[in-house]
Amino acid sequence: MDFFTAVANRRSVRAFKSKAIEEAKLQKILESANSAPSAGNLQAYEIVLIKDKKQKKALAEASNNQEFIAEAPAVLVFCANPMQSSRYGSRGADLYCVQDATIAASYAQLAATALGLSSVWVGAFDEKAVSKIINARAVLPIAIIPIGYPNEEPEKTPRRKISDIVHHEKLP
Ligand SMILES: Cc1cc2nc3c(=O)[nH]c(=O)nc-3n(C[C@H](O)[C@H](O)[C@H](O)COP(=O)(O)O)c2cc1C
Repeated sequence: MDFFTAVANRRSVRAFKSKAIEEAKLQKILESANSAPSAGNLQAYEIVLIKDKKQKKALAEASNNQEFIAEAPAVLVFCANPMQSSRYGSRGADLYCVQDATIAASYAQLAATALGLSSVWVGAFDEKAVSKIINARAVLPIAIIPIGYPNEEPEKTPRRKISDIVHHEKLP
């Protein structure tokens, strides 16, 4: 699948088949995340790969009972690692590490789509509860990305017009 098709085909999918994800595909997704740009190439993020049923169930509960998290065969939790980008002071610790984690998660989502898999970005979760589940101490969970073969075909969601979001030379 070419890049533009992957971008156009990606949807947030919230129902997954139980079919396992092939290891080679999972590796490709992780390699894609790992090739994302990052501030100073410090890659100030950690990825927690979760396949264990109990762990996934706990994550679903910590995410307002978004049960599809437990349904997905694999779940990636992207965490910002402020220490890793502390070279850049508070801008590194407060912003760059979050941006690094976010970009890597986006790359993972697009890679999943290109491989015929689906995912959804889950941001609504109890940060403390998720940190406890994944044993995050000095890192901050940013996004939970359940991945699997889709068991639904959501419609394309609307977007703002490009002319509404792009401003020439300065903001109005
Ligand atoms: C920061 C962020 C947080 C999100 N949190 C959730 C979430 O907790 N649960 C959920 O089902 N979808 C969540 N989404 C997915 C959005 O609802 C979805 O991307 C948006 O409706 C556009 O639909 P699309 O992804 O199919 O294009 C989140 C997306 C982003 C970027």
